[in-house]
Amino acid sequence: MAKIRKLSIRGGKPLCGRISVSGAKNSSVAIIPAALLAGEPCTLENLPDIEDVRVLKEILEWVGAKVEFENNEMWIDPTGVNRFDVPARLAQKMRASYYLVPVLLGLFGKADVPMPGGCNIGARPIDQTLKGWRMLGAEAEVQSVIELDYDKIVARNGENMRGREVLLDMPSVGATINTMLAAVSAEGLTIIRNAAKEPHVVDLANFLNAIGAKIRGAGTPDIRIWGRQRMHGSTYSIVPDQIETGTLMLAAAATRGDVTIAGAVPFHMEALTAKLLEAGVRVEDDEENIFIHAGRGDRDRLRHINVTTQTYPGFPTDLQQPMVAMLTTAGSPTDREKMSVVTEKIYESRFEFTNELNKMGASIEITGNGRVACIHSVEKLVGTRVKATDLRAGAAMVIAGLMAEGRTIISNVHFIERGYENIVEKFRSLGADIEMIEEDDDE
Ligand code: EPU
Repeated sequence: MAKIRKLSIRGGKPLCGRISVSGAKNSSVAIIPAALLAGEPCTLENLPDIEDVRVLKEILEWVGAKVEFENNEMWIDPTGVNRFDVPARLAQKMRASYYLVPVLLGLFGKADVPMPGGCNIGARPIDQTLKGWRMLGAEAEVQSVIELDYDKIVARNGENMRGREVLLDMPSVGATINTMLAAVSAEGLTIIRNAAKEPHVVDLANFLNAIGAKIRGAGTPDIRIWGRQRMHGSTYSIVPDQIETGTLMLAAAATRGDVTIAGAVPFHMEALTAKLLEAGVRVEDDEENIFIHAGRGDRDRLRHINVTTQTYPGFPTDLQQPMVAMLTTAGSPTDREKMSVVTEKIYESRFEFTNELNKMGASIEITGNGRVACIHSVEKLVGTRVKATDLRAGAAMVIAGLMAEGRTIISNVHFIERGYENIVEKFRSLGADIEMIEEDDDE
């Protein structure tokens, strides 16, 4: 029988020590395709060694780039790029594969890229992205490839793109990035209004400026892009990962630990920090370290809190699931009125993982059309067999496993490896009893 890898955690130990944050996944997956626009070799530093980055390396090689990736550094030579299509087997492994569309549109005037994959957390429409490209004058539509049972994005007329004002219906990260990447190759000025303000949007703009683009206003709702500048190679270091930082902060707090998170950007973490302080966790920071102290006495029990996900600088949806794990034991187990309420405003279906937490003894009810989790505090979680239902749900299960009494075994680790670098080694270095095991594939 085939073996599959699972995470095994013996919980109940507070995390203690110092840990460094990796480079941001969601920056990396935009900046790697963007490097093709440089026309000359680029070196990207501080890239996380995660599955999504490895898949993008394959995609870049497929379209003809030379790529080397070692020790978190990627060298990309785009001079041999000669294809404008991406195979479905690669595109469907991740969300960000569609960032190749505006890049190939700029290089060849055309692109054929299958609809992207990514986490199953509800509908993820791309209407705003299509609108952005079309406003600039490209033709773009989603076509069915009936014989192969998938849809692909077909984009044309990239050579005639002209800058314009693009007003997004909502500050979508994907639409902002896709429009920015197309605008770099469009003649004249593009203004993206109601743009996403996430740190990875700013990081992409900084990278594009480093290779010659002229972009101003990233991080505000209005981004201005003057297209068709002379582009060139550069060396660029990816920003620290906001979501990994937050996952580590929540894991430290949830295990009542004492952890220094090094190489972080405290400024990106303000929404989470405010909620942790409200829950009774001590959070301090200096320029690039965050210190989490959560006491272990009965009087230090975390308080119940309410959280609503929003676009940046609000509370990030990608930390909603790890936050729910931490809140399973926050508040009073004897007073059901004192529950935490977590409301998911970005995705329609990002609470599926709460069934897994309930298997560990949590008491979570989902209401509000699947958008609201009512978390009644329980005394403790108890380890059992659970699965990661998507990437950040996987992070939530790891936190739950670290909190729980006894042994937790988590399957579907490939979801976790899409976005977290060296998760086993990192948590082990903080004293966790966590290991990757192999078991018969009997599921
Ligand atoms: N939306 C639309 N139409 C669009 C685009 C978005 O209706 O054309 C709505 C949808 O409801 C969608 C929501 O807006 O579900 C958020 O979409 P957005 O475009 O902002 O998200 P994304 O670009 O698909 C990125 C991250 C996600 C993160 C979201 C929100 C990448 C590769 N992915 O997704 O990260 O949750 O922004 O911050 O950057 C993760 O890392 O686990 C992850 C899912």
